[in-house]
Amino acid sequence: MPCGAETMKPIQAGLLGIGTVGSGTFNVLQRNQEEIQRRAGRGIHITMVADLDTARAKAIVGDSAQVVSDARAVIANPAIDIVIELIGGYGIARTLVMESIAAGKHVVTANKALLAVHGTEIFAAARARGVMVAFEAAVAGGIPIIKALREGLTANRIEWIAGIINGTTNFILSEMRSKGLDFDVALKEAQRLGYAESDPTFDIEGIDAAHKATIMSAIAFGIPVQFDKAYIEGITKLQAADIRYAEQLGYRIKLLGITKRRAGGGSPADAADGIELRVHPTLVPAQRLIANVEGAMNAVVVHGDAVGSTLHYGKGAGAEPTASAVIADLVDITRLHTADPDHRVPHLAFQPGALQDTRILPIDEVVTAFYLRLQVADQAGVLARITGILAECDISIDALLQRPGDAGASHEARAEGQAPTDVIILTHDTVEGRMNKAIAQMQALPTVLAPIVRIRKEELS
Ligand code: HSE
Repeated sequence: MPCGAETMKPIQAGLLGIGTVGSGTFNVLQRNQEEIQRRAGRGIHITMVADLDTARAKAIVGDSAQVVSDARAVIANPAIDIVIELIGGYGIARTLVMESIAAGKHVVTANKALLAVHGTEIFAAARARGVMVAFEAAVAGGIPIIKALREGLTANRIEWIAGIINGTTNFILSEMRSKGLDFDVALKEAQRLGYAESDPTFDIEGIDAAHKATIMSAIAFGIPVQFDKAYIEGITKLQAADIRYAEQLGYRIKLLGITKRRAGGGSPADAADGIELRVHPTLVPAQRLIANVEGAMNAVVVHGDAVGSTLHYGKGAGAEPTASAVIADLVDITRLHTADPDHRVPHLAFQPGALQDTRILPIDEVVTAFYLRLQVADQAGVLARITGILAECDISIDALLQRPGDAGASHEARAEGQAPTDVIILTHDTVEGRMNKAIAQMQALPTVLAPIVRIRKEELS
């Protein structure tokens, strides 16, 4: 222990909301307090807890902290140095975070939704007041990805990030693949096991992942947080057949949050300059480590020009994994809060005056490869027409597979070209707008019998 540390008064934190993560934070802080103090240089104590359910809060904290039902009592307490916001959402949480900052409190939050949507306003207020807003727990739970992006990889020009940043959907996709389940069945299983909420919308529609991708894109590229510009597509329409075909072609389907720097003038030639920010189901080569991240685990690949690819893997949710990130922020603030605010690590990694307003590309201008599945009549010339349309749109085919689309069809029906057949095409990279035009033309063919399935593909090499 450094000389004098023992006599330093502990940092006092007030907790707003003591649910799963709050109680995990309280417990880990108590259990590891001696080691945490040796690292931070002084004790870190949660001395006040605000929760509407005061009886439950008291049952968790006992006599160790004062329990109140009014969060503003915590913010108004001059003894509190740090407010830990674990309420979630953009409503009251936003008001309380802004009031905490105005009161000169540092803030630790796990609230990805709040930062992805209102981060610009919150960070500006914090800077003006000379306080820190720390948010390691907001992205990928226990994985220290904010620290890695903001500090460990600071030498790099980040080229792209691709992450499995929602454990619920990764669990569902893992069940669909390993057990051949349909989406609805896998979702029910996730709910039964407590991975998915009773209202799973934010997870399965990709919104939670988009909040996290938005925060990472700001830190990686030095741009403001812009959730409204993210393209978001969840996993609700994924079919077991596509997971199976992808596997036959050597790919797995993951819900990825992707953010990528794109410099025009490369390939394809009509690609625009800007930043891609998107969440959608993605085919990933089965041999990539990230393709083998199963169950509710999270993983983020960061590709920097100097370091190459780095993979960050761990638990993205849960009481103690998330508490691990919350407490890391408490320690950081404890170490830094006496430092000149200008010498602290900037909230978004880049100095506030150095943020750039690089354009976030609309999905039409994004460049990816594609998996297409067309259910077609099995007749002469059908494939030639489809490949002809792709050629006219200057979209190059990488691989092609044909499989009986309706296993129940009779041999006679098949012989007469009456039975549908599935044609699966993998393309090389193309601009999405061009692919849309090609899909519209293919869809209009009378021999294409069902809506064309399209899933984006990333090699992540
Ligand atoms: N619901 C999220 C997940 C965790 O399933 O990963 C919190 O963001």
